Order: sequence, then C-alpha cells, then structure tokens
Amino acid sequence: MATNRTFTMIKPDAVANGHIGAILNDIIAGGFKIIAMKYIQLSKETAGAFYAVHKERPFYGELVDFMTSGPIVAAILEKDNAVEDFRTLIGATDPSKAEAGTIRNKYAKSIDANAIHGSDSDENAAIEGSFFFSHFERY
Ligand code: PPS
Repeated sequence: MATNRTFTMIKPDAVANGHIGAILNDIIAGGFKIIAMKYIQLSKETAGAFYAVHKERPFYGELVDFMTSGPIVAAILEKDNAVEDFRTLIGATDPSKAEAGTIRNKYAKSIDANAIHGSDSDENAAIEGSFFFSHFERY
C-alpha cells in the first residue's frame, strides 16, 4: 500500500534562478503539506552518498558536481499517494519530455539540471527523508 510521505530537493539550478517560492507554491497548491524543510549546501561527500545508488552510471560525477554547485532546499512532504502524485507534479526527468504545467516543464532547462528531485518509491522516500532529517526535525 502506498505511504503518504515523499522526499524532495529543489536543486541548485532552480534555487539560483530564483524559483524556490514558485516551486513551493506549486507543491502546496498540489495538496502537499511540508513536514520538514532545510536550506543547505551539500558537500561532495554528502551528495556522493545520497546518489551512491547511481555510482555506476556515466553521469554520476556530473550529478554530484551539479548538486554541490550551490544551495538546495530539502523537504519531506505529506499527501495521500505522495510518491506517485509528486512524480506527476514534477514531470519527467528530462524536462523536454515533461508535461505542460509540471514543475520541470516550467522551471528546468535540461536533464542534468532538472530543478527538482522526487523519491521514486515509498522505500526510497523513507530512506532519503531519514538521510536528511533526524526525528526531531520533522513535524
Ligand atoms: S529517475 O527520475 O530517478 O527515474 O531518473 P534516472 O534516469 O534514474 O536518474 C537518476 C538521477 O540522475 C539524474 N540524471 C542525470 N544527471 C546528469 N546527467 C544526466 N544525463 C542525467 N540523467 C539523469 C536525474 O535527474 C536523477 O536525479 P534525481 O535527483 O533523482 O531527480
């Protein structure tokens, strides 16, 4: 059964381009409640560990470099069917394939700088949320 939480990061491109407010508006308008949130600069070590599952993929180094190129906003979000509904709200990984009105369609320019992360499963949502937030940092 689907759980009701997911994890997101507003990525360095969207932060640098001034889209934090608009993206949070879209997330809240989409019915998600913010359970935890922080504005942080990732180190190479932290980003490398977060994306370790993609270590063998050709873009791993670029992904870690990009995710450490500036601050990000990390958050845990709550809504029924959160993981799937959030992936719908953000659109396809490649923004050129993201549906009109989705966050990546509106705020992302390329597959390597695609504005926002959304967990791809309930299991990963729980792992990723715990990676960034301790129990007393969650609502
Ligand atoms: S997904 O959304 O997890 O199914 O997408 P996936 O293709 O598995 O990609 C995993 C993460 O890698 C990022 N990505 C890339 N970064 C740099 N260059 C290229 N070519 C590239 N392709 C994919 C993608 O944005 C995913 O990051 P997250 O943070 O999980 O969204």
